[in-house]
Amino acid sequence: MKKIIVTGCNGQLGRAVNLEFQNNTEIEFVNTDVGELDITNIDKVMELVKQVKPYAIINCAAHTGVDACEDEWDKAYKINAIGPRNLSIAASETGAKMIHVSTDYVFNGKADKPYTEFDKPDPQGAYGITKLAGENMVKDFADRYFILRTAWLYGDGKNFVKTMLRLSESNDKVRVVGDQVGSPTSAKELAAAIAQLIFTENYGIFHATCEGSCSWAQFAEEIFKMAGKKTVVEAITTEEFGAKAPRPAYSILENYMLKLTTDYRFADWHDALSVYMKG
Ligand SMILES: NC(=O)c1ccc[n+]([C@@H]2O[C@H](COP(=O)([O-])OP(=O)(O)OC[C@H]3O[C@@H](n4cnc5c(N)ncnc54)[C@H](OP(=O)(O)O)[C@@H]3O)[C@@H](O)[C@H]2O)c1
Repeated sequence: MKKIIVTGCNGQLGRAVNLEFQNNTEIEFVNTDVGELDITNIDKVMELVKQVKPYAIINCAAHTGVDACEDEWDKAYKINAIGPRNLSIAASETGAKMIHVSTDYVFNGKADKPYTEFDKPDPQGAYGITKLAGENMVKDFADRYFILRTAWLYGDGKNFVKTMLRLSESNDKVRVVGDQVGSPTSAKELAAAIAQLIFTENYGIFHATCEGSCSWAQFAEEIFKMAGKKTVVEAITTEEFGAKAPRPAYSILENYMLKLTTDYRFADWHDALSVYMKG
């Protein structure tokens, strides 16, 4: 029986990986969230990992509040960088594989063609800077790792899809940013990609997003269309929206490494959204 430690198990991805592996009888999950294992605590991480001796660690924990990170640099560095460092040290000491998840925010968003894994990161805000620091920690301390960079993630938890559906209950019109483009990605699809990689030796950094792209405003329109809502979307600029943290204007990732090295293909974002909406 292979044991897999999941951190941040109550988050969107944590829940999705549990569902993805639920029928695999050769896997035993050791699920943890901050109450059971605070990944920022090296002693606790070492203790649990040495006790469990896992086949792999899937790090689904993160400080994902993009605006909050701007006011909480220490907390963001601790969770997004020191946490993956601790897990990576423990993984290499016990021979476990390390699966870590990162973000499109490691790029500056000024490109005019999809970013590949070979493009140079240049994060603009606290979230992206601390997440890139986390990637570097994994590269420095884990012997065998997979880093999956995803974007615009939605699953079982707080996310854009749910926010739009909630807003549509009491609004005939919503104002949504139209000048940022990216690839909405369902946590289910990302969990399936992890399941494809985890038993292989195909290590490295992977872009891991659904195929196709849209603006947030177009994403909202599609959500309303699929939900049969009449809510009108008014596209506004990033400046008009006025969020605290900078957001990459162009956030499209090409799943280049997955395409170069595997047969695994992410679903188109419309199809993945449709599955999510029916679920
Ligand atoms: N959401 C997105 O749009 C998006 C986009 C690109 C990349 N990503 C990346 O994808 C991964 C999964 O994101 P997600 O949306 O599933 O995140 P999420 O829903 O915010 O879940 C993160 C989980 O980690 C927990 N956590 C926080 N601090 C912790 C600590 N010190 N120790 C252990 N657990 C802790 C959180 O608990 P609390 O809720 O109690 O804090 C939460 O349960 C993350 O690496 C994220 O950076 C997400």
